Amino acid sequence: MTYPARVKIVEVGPRDGLQNEKEHVSTEVKIELVHRLQAAGLKAIEVTSFVSPKWIPQMADNARVMRGIHRQKNTCYSALVPNMKGLEAALAAPAEEWPDEIVVFGSASEAFSQKNINCSIAESIERFAPVVMTALEKGIYVRGAMSCTVGCPYEGDVSPDAVGRLAQLMKGIGVQHVGVADTIGVGTPSKVQHALEATLAHFGIDDVSGHFHNTHGLALSNTLASLELGVWQYDTSVAGLGGCPYANGATGNVATEEVVHMLHGMGIETGIDLNKLVEAGVFISHALGREPNSRVHRANRYRRASVCR
Ligand code: HMG
Ligand code: MG
Repeated sequence: MTYPARVKIVEVGPRDGLQNEKEHVSTEVKIELVHRLQAAGLKAIEVTSFVSPKWIPQMADNARVMRGIHRQKNTCYSALVPNMKGLEAALAAPAEEWPDEIVVFGSASEAFSQKNINCSIAESIERFAPVVMTALEKGIYVRGAMSCTVGCPYEGDVSPDAVGRLAQLMKGIGVQHVGVADTIGVGTPSKVQHALEATLAHFGIDDVSGHFHNTHGLALSNTLASLELGVWQYDTSVAGLGGCPYANGATGNVATEEVVHMLHGMGIETGIDLNKLVEAGVFISHALGREPNSRVHRANRYRRASVCR
């Protein structure tokens, strides 16, 4: 089996992770987290979302977070944007504070679309179309996140056909890259491969990424199954932060530390310093009053404790 020689990690902890944390995290801590992540070598960081603060109060400080970040060269800072109002809010700042990339987010399941963004799949595409067009005119790269590509908390199994239809709709409005998300972590390697194959019928291999939540502990297996198809871009969350506000019981994304550990062990480059990444995970977890949800962190701690004994 030939795997990609290099993998791009998109760190989504500051957004996907913190959007679902009940514990309040100050704007300063969020900014410090982004700084620690970039110091660990992350070149793509999903920083916040411009969504309704009534729906997701954790992201209400979106503009302040964007303003506070000391940007590094060659690093992409992205933000979720669900509609024109969100895009206008993101672009209300001076251009140097704009996201380099926005993410419109739809669902392969109708019920999840209604719960998450309060509209049908077809309506979501209508909402996204002017967002995508305006962002592209401004030189902002546009990613699309596709939720529930293997299973939905309300509808159960989701077919690859439904995933293919959404991918085609996203392509049709000019979305440049799509993320195949297992929102509630019910995917298995073969199901994830089928969702990816349905997507790859509409997007090239360089324009597709995997986004796996780890509810059943299979996110690393699903990552490996995706690598087998040649997919080389993954969204992951430091310390396994997060969950999904509209999918009860779903855990966070796969921990960035675990994916990086696996990839480095396979000889696949990421450009990430695992020790610094683990420290960033400890930093944000302690701000939340707990230990990182990452087996790499636990293994390191156990090893250090054994050495000290
Ligand atoms: P809506 O209520 O249908 O929108 O929400 P509306 O247009 O009817 O407006 C209602 C109110 O919201 C108005 O305010 C608007 O101004 C305001 P009011 O007049 O009542 O004071 N509003 C906004 N405020 C700030 N920013 C905006 C905005 N838009 C409207 N952009 C909406 C529709 C999409 C906005 C809402 O449903 C929402 O914000 N949902 C949040 C969904 C969300 O953030 N979910 C989590 C992220 S997705 C995810 O995690 C999945 C992913 O990780 C992949 C995976 O794992 O599956 C990406
Ligand atoms: Mg997610």
